[in-house]
Amino acid sequence: MRERVVVGNWKMYKTQTEAESYLTDLLPRVKEAKVGVYLAVPFTALEVAASTAAGSALIIGAQNMNDATEGAFTGEISARMLTEAGARFVILGHSERRRFFGETDAFINRKVRRALETDDLRPILCVGETLEEHRAGKTKEVLERQLTAGLADVSPDQIDRVMIAYEPVWAIGTGETATPEVAEEAHQFIRQFISSHWDDARAQSVLIIYGGSVQPNNCSALTEQPDIDGLLVGGASLVPELFSQIVNAYKLPVGKEIG
Ligand code: PGA
Repeated sequence: MRERVVVGNWKMYKTQTEAESYLTDLLPRVKEAKVGVYLAVPFTALEVAASTAAGSALIIGAQNMNDATEGAFTGEISARMLTEAGARFVILGHSERRRFFGETDAFINRKVRRALETDDLRPILCVGETLEEHRAGKTKEVLERQLTAGLADVSPDQIDRVMIAYEPVWAIGTGETATPEVAEEAHQFIRQFISSHWDDARAQSVLIIYGGSVQPNNCSALTEQPDIDGLLVGGASLVPELFSQIVNAYKLPVGKEIG
């Protein structure tokens, strides 16, 4: 059975001091978690988050990076800078990066491949359609395009290190979650895509998680869907009580035990 995970995405919230006190509050609350718990923090909070979480099962990561190994790219950050600061995963191609910072599928693909070349850095590739595309019935077409470009030249040995997050743009930060059935259908489509471009065994081991207005009161039904392997949580991950309630909504001892 595939592991289940809950990934928090703080976005541009929390200083180092705030990160430390948040984690001191969160860690005892997720001690008995039955799932992998991941937290994507701002670059400046990586080191303090990783050292505060040391000795626990919590996995710290980042929210973006550049595709180059190093160079004259003012304001950018490399994969190795992240891992040395304590990141073990990185969110790539988030819809906010695509929308506000003009990131293209080709750029995102280069980042995914760079992360895969970096020891101990797992990429989470975000895909998802806008409201307009959703209303026009273009969800699968958009997913196909983003996955084809975003995962181009990812080798069979690498594909199951990529985690894929289905995040319908119309559900992010809007309070409007996709119904479990709508999300499940998209996840099945993504798994099928992996199966046809790589193979079925790898498709069965790839983790595909859902994000978009996940809250304690709507997460249970999502966790019950067979192809939804976890949740990517933005707003609710900022509050230890809410985030831990979502983590602890997974009651079955599936996948890795944390303790
Ligand atoms: P949200 O954000 O949970 O606040 O909708 C999800 C995300 O952007 O990853």
